[in-house]
Order: sequence, then structure tokens, then C-alpha cells
Amino acid sequence: MSAIKQKKIQEHYDTIADVYDHHYDQRRGRCYYTHLSTYVMNALPQSGKLLDIGCGTGLFVERYIVDGRSAVGLDISRRMIERARRRCGECDYTVGTGEKIPFYDNSFDAITSLLVFSYVRDPEAMMSEAYRVLKPGGAIAICTLGKKLLTRGIPAIYHISEKMNVNHVVMKNFGERYYDREEMHELFNHAGFSDIQVKWCSFAHIDMIDPLFFLAQKIEPFVEKCVPQLAYNICISGKKPQK
Ligand SMILES: C[S@@+](CC[C@H](N)C(=O)[O-])C[C@H]1O[C@@H](n2cnc3c(N)ncnc32)[C@H](O)[C@@H]1O
Repeated sequence: MSAIKQKKIQEHYDTIADVYDHHYDQRRGRCYYTHLSTYVMNALPQSGKLLDIGCGTGLFVERYIVDGRSAVGLDISRRMIERARRRCGECDYTVGTGEKIPFYDNSFDAITSLLVFSYVRDPEAMMSEAYRVLKPGGAIAICTLGKKLLTRGIPAIYHISEKMNVNHVVMKNFGERYYDREEMHELFNHAGFSDIQVKWCSFAHIDMIDPLFFLAQKIEPFVEKCVPQLAYNICISGKKPQK
């Protein structure tokens, strides 16, 4: 992905920062986000300091800090961070990119990134930076749209939506990239992470109409377990080995 696309992503999120949360604060959005953030949360330690890359409006850090844990949010969009400060003022925030993390080596006990990795221009750089700033023994968990039959058509839909000026918080052509299980595993492995686990999650999509969403939600556990090729988010976790 070119630098131009990254600027486009940043400008887009600056523009939609005030409406981003509407998507997730209504019932369907809350169910969807709770579902995928639970996958991420389950891979994290019970205590310690978290870095959330692409923290957006702070939805995940807000959830993480409830048990007295601390968190820092990093995002390329200044306006998304302004919203995060308002939503969850107990955390620290920094404007910057996951590909060049502005923190010292071994600073965090955990690293997360939700719904961001498909935008990242240089995934190897982000993984190596995540490894650098994570403490030995620390955990990382990423959740992103996976490369699947169901997601293959999404770039074309985004492209058409943009041409038709469809007003949707994420339906823009950013040249997003989706990954399959093997690609994510290789990225984690190459960066040096161990204990790598890959899970598929989500079948009930936030953009489905209500009756369909709640039907999909009912069969979601079955789909994730028995037909994972129909689940569309991929959640990968790993650990930085102790020295
Ligand atoms: C779909 S939103 C997800 C926000 C948040 N993680 C959540 O779960 O609601 C994507 C976010 O990633 C940020 N982003 C995109 N590319 C990034 C990068 N390379 N480094 C840091 N943040 C990035 C965007 O500015 C935006 O806030």
C-alpha cells in the first residue's frame, strides 16, 4: 500500500471520527464488537500495561482497563484519538503508526490491534516493531478481516461504494489487504513470536439487518467451530519468548 493510501486512511478516519462510535454503540454493533474483543481479551495477561495499535476511539482500551490495568492507544488519526480521550480519559494516547512505534524497547506487557491490520502498508515492519516494544513473556493479539470466500468480494464492493459516494464508515477503497491463516502464522513466526494460535471468529456481521444478524449470531458458535471457512475475522495471538 502506498504512502498516498495511508494519508487517505488517516484523512478518512479524521473525517468520520465523530460518527465512528454510532456504528458500535447500538445493539448489533455492541454484540459484534463484544464478540470479537472477547477473542482478543482471552489471549491477554490478567494484568500489565497494554499498547493498542490503531486504537481508534478507544473502544478496546476502555474494555481492557476495567480491572485496574493500564493502556496506551496509538493511532494515525488525530481526530480518532481526540474521541478516544473523551471516551476513556484514564488511558494515554499517541498519534503515530504501528510501523514505527514511538516507544522504547520492552515497554509493554501486551499488544493488541483490532480491525486495523488490513490497512497496514508494511505488515512485517509492524510485527517487528510490536516485538521490539513488547516485554519478554508479553502477549500479542491481532484481530483482522481474514482472506476468505466471503471477504474476497469486499475490495470490489468498497471500490463501487466509493464511486457511488455511499456514506459508510469503512466502505472506502484503501487498497486493504486480507490474510489467511498461513500468512498470519508466518508473519508472527518471522517476527520471533512463539505459542502462536490462530482462530476464526464472527459470522453475524454488523451490517446485516436485525433478524438476519440475530439468526447468524445463534449459529455463530457452530460456524466458528465446525465451518470456520464461513467466519470472516481472523484472531492471531502469540508470545515474545522469555530470554
Ligand atoms: C476500523 S478502525 C478500528 C479502530 C479500533 N481498533 C476499534 O476496534 O474500534 C481502524 C483504525 O486504524 C487506524 N489505523 C489505520 N492504519 C494505521 C496504522 N498504520 N497505524 C496506526 N493506526 C492505523 C485508523 O486511523 C483507525 O482509527
